[in-house]
Amino acid sequence: MPHGTALPARYAVFGHPVSHSLSPAIHRLFGEQCGVALEYAAVDAAPEAFADAVHRFLSGAHGVNVTLPHKAAAFALADERSAAASRAGSANVLTRLPNGRLAAHNTDGAGLVRDLTERQRCALAGARVLLLGAGGAARGVAWDLLDAGVQELTIANRTADTAAALAGSLGVTRARAHYWQDLAELGRFDLVVHATSAGMLGQRLELPGSLVGPRTVGYDLSYGAGAQGFLDWARSAGARTACDGLGMLVEQAADAFALWHGRRPDTGPVYARLRTAA
Ligand code: ATR
Repeated sequence: MPHGTALPARYAVFGHPVSHSLSPAIHRLFGEQCGVALEYAAVDAAPEAFADAVHRFLSGAHGVNVTLPHKAAAFALADERSAAASRAGSANVLTRLPNGRLAAHNTDGAGLVRDLTERQRCALAGARVLLLGAGGAARGVAWDLLDAGVQELTIANRTADTAAALAGSLGVTRARAHYWQDLAELGRFDLVVHATSAGMLGQRLELPGSLVGPRTVGYDLSYGAGAQGFLDWARSAGARTACDGLGMLVEQAADAFALWHGRRPDTGPVYARLRTAA
């Protein structure tokens, strides 16, 4: 039985497409580790069918995870929203409360910060950070990077206005937008976060090697084939580490699991197992 509710322990990830999702495997492994019996499915819902499909599923279940392209829609359909979801304008977790209302939460940014600081040994306090992209994925992590104490969050996006809007919405002078065409003039960063969808669209980014030094961490929020181009670039530019978003995926899932079951699993063995299988 889920933590504090009388709803069946049924969960799912909603996406489109969703067959590639590792979330069912991750939550089942967490369940085994914590002795929690749960069902976890993957539901493919087209955007126009998403809201109805979620309402139907959650009428007899406790929670869902939400992945591309539904995170903004998940936020919109919720009755209550956490601070993390509100500032990102998107949700990757929807929970049915005992009173039937749907609560939106976003654990992506916290997942990234935990993976960076605990698994990748990347110190964020005082760091110079470059965020490439200003869409939903970038918005989902920007506040958490600032909360982690980065000294400078430079946002560069192909469409300059979107970068300026994101930087402006963050409301601190530590966050600034720069033109994509000026990337070669910005010097080295401690951390370069790739948050564009170019890799997933099969497009190649042209990035200057001058962004990277021997202590730089290059981090792609995605994993699998979509991350490969950025990781290859970061390695060839001489980064200390180039990592994909698999660790972030496991950490955001652990936060969702903790929300639903009242206990945060040990992510180490689950991450190791998925990494070996990848
Ligand atoms: P997501 O939810 O994955 O972030 P999104 O909100 O559609 O998706 O945002 C996609 C991001 O990838 C945007 O920052 C987009 O830049 P624009 O605002 O200029 O569209 C960026 N992007 C996509 N393809 C790109 C490419 N080939 N080069 C650079 N940036 C790209």
